[in-house]
Amino acid sequence: MCDHGQFAGSRVLVTGGAGAIGGRLVRRLQGLACAEIVILDDFSSAARWNLAAGPNVRLVEGDLVDPAVLAAAFAAPPDYVFHLAAHFANQNSVDHPERNLEVNGLGTLRVLEKCREAPPKRVVIASSGCGAYGPDTPVPFREESASVRMFTPYQITKLLGEMYGTYFHDNFGLPVAVARLFNVYGPGEVPGRYRNVIPNFLYMARHGRALPITGSGEETRDWTYVEDAIDAFLTMCVRSGAVGESINIASGREVTVAHMAEVVNEVTGNGSGIVFGPRRGWDCKARLLASIDKAEEILDYRPATRFRDGIVATNEWFSEHWEQILQSASF
Ligand SMILES: NC(=O)c1ccc[n+]([C@@H]2O[C@H](COP(=O)([O-])OP(=O)(O)OC[C@H]3O[C@@H](n4cnc5c(N)ncnc54)[C@H](O)[C@@H]3O)[C@@H](O)[C@H]2O)c1
Repeated sequence: MCDHGQFAGSRVLVTGGAGAIGGRLVRRLQGLACAEIVILDDFSSAARWNLAAGPNVRLVEGDLVDPAVLAAAFAAPPDYVFHLAAHFANQNSVDHPERNLEVNGLGTLRVLEKCREAPPKRVVIASSGCGAYGPDTPVPFREESASVRMFTPYQITKLLGEMYGTYFHDNFGLPVAVARLFNVYGPGEVPGRYRNVIPNFLYMARHGRALPITGSGEETRDWTYVEDAIDAFLTMCVRSGAVGESINIASGREVTVAHMAEVVNEVTGNGSGIVFGPRRGWDCKARLLASIDKAEEILDYRPATRFRDGIVATNEWFSEHWEQILQSASF
C-alpha cells in the first residue's frame, strides 16, 4: 500500500489506544518515527498490562466525554487523530444503552469539536459494518447501501458517530475518513463478557470446553485480521480520495461461524467440540459480507492474512500472555 513515511515527526492521537485494535495501531505507529503518540483511554474495556509503552508514547487517562480530559489530549494539536474509543459492543449496549449513547454519540461529537479547533491532517473514525448494514441490505454490502434498520443501541450509535464525522466534513471541511470495520480479530484482544467471539472461543478452547454457538453455525461473518485493518487506517491518512468517504474494511470473504469454531478447536487442540444454543434476540444477521471494491480502489487495500493463519497468530499471542489473560478476563 504505502510506506507511511508521512507519520515521521508527527503527533498522533489515538482515542481508545489501550484497546484491542487501538493497542495494535499504537504499536505500528511506534515503528513509524512519530514525534509523539498520545493515547486517550479510560480503561473501561482495556487491560493495563496490554498498554503499549515507549519513550514517545503518552497516556491521557480518563473519559473522553469529559471536556477536561479532551483538553489534555488535544493540548498540543495532533497532526492525525484516530478515533477508536467506543462503548463496545452489541450486548453491552443492550445492557447499558444510555452510557453507550453518551460515549459513542456525545463523545464522538466532542472529539470532532476539538478537531475543528485546530484541524489535523486527517481524522480517521472507526465505524462498524454491523452498524451500517441491516437485514434489508443486499449481500455483499456496498457502502452506498447503508441501512437504518438496527437491532442494538451499539449499531445505532456507531452509525451516529459516522454521521457526525460526515457532517463535520461536509459542513466544516474537516478531513474525516470513516472505516467501516467488520469483525476484527487478532492478537491484542483480551476475552471477556462483552468481547468478540474469537477471543472468547480461544479462551474456552484452551480450557477444554465445548464451544457454544448461538444459532445454527451456518451464519457467516467477514472476519478481518487486525493488522490488515491497520494497514487500511494508515493508508486512509495519505490517500486524499478517502476524505469524506465511508469505506468498508473487511476481508471480503465469508466464513461460517461453525468453520470458525472448528478452526479454533483444531489450532488449540481442543477435542470438546461444539454445542449449539438459541441465537441471541438481536443477533439476526445470517450473513455479513462486505464488498471491498471501494477500499481496493481508493486505498489499494489487499487484506493479506488468511483466516487460519490469523487464528494461529492470535492463539500464539494467547500463549505469550496466558497468565495475564487468565487474571484479567472477566465473564
Ligand atoms: N473489534 C471489532 O470487531 C470492531 C468491529 C467494528 C467496529 N469496531 C470499532 O473499532 C473501535 C475499536 O474497537 P476495539 O475492538 O479495539 O474495542 P475496545 O473495546 O478494545 O477498544 C475501545 C477502547 O476505548 C476505551 N474507551 C471506552 N470508552 C471510553 C471513554 N468514555 N473514554 C475513553 N476511552 C474509552 C476502552 O477502554 C478501550 O480501550 C471501536 O470504535 C469499535 O466500535 C470494532
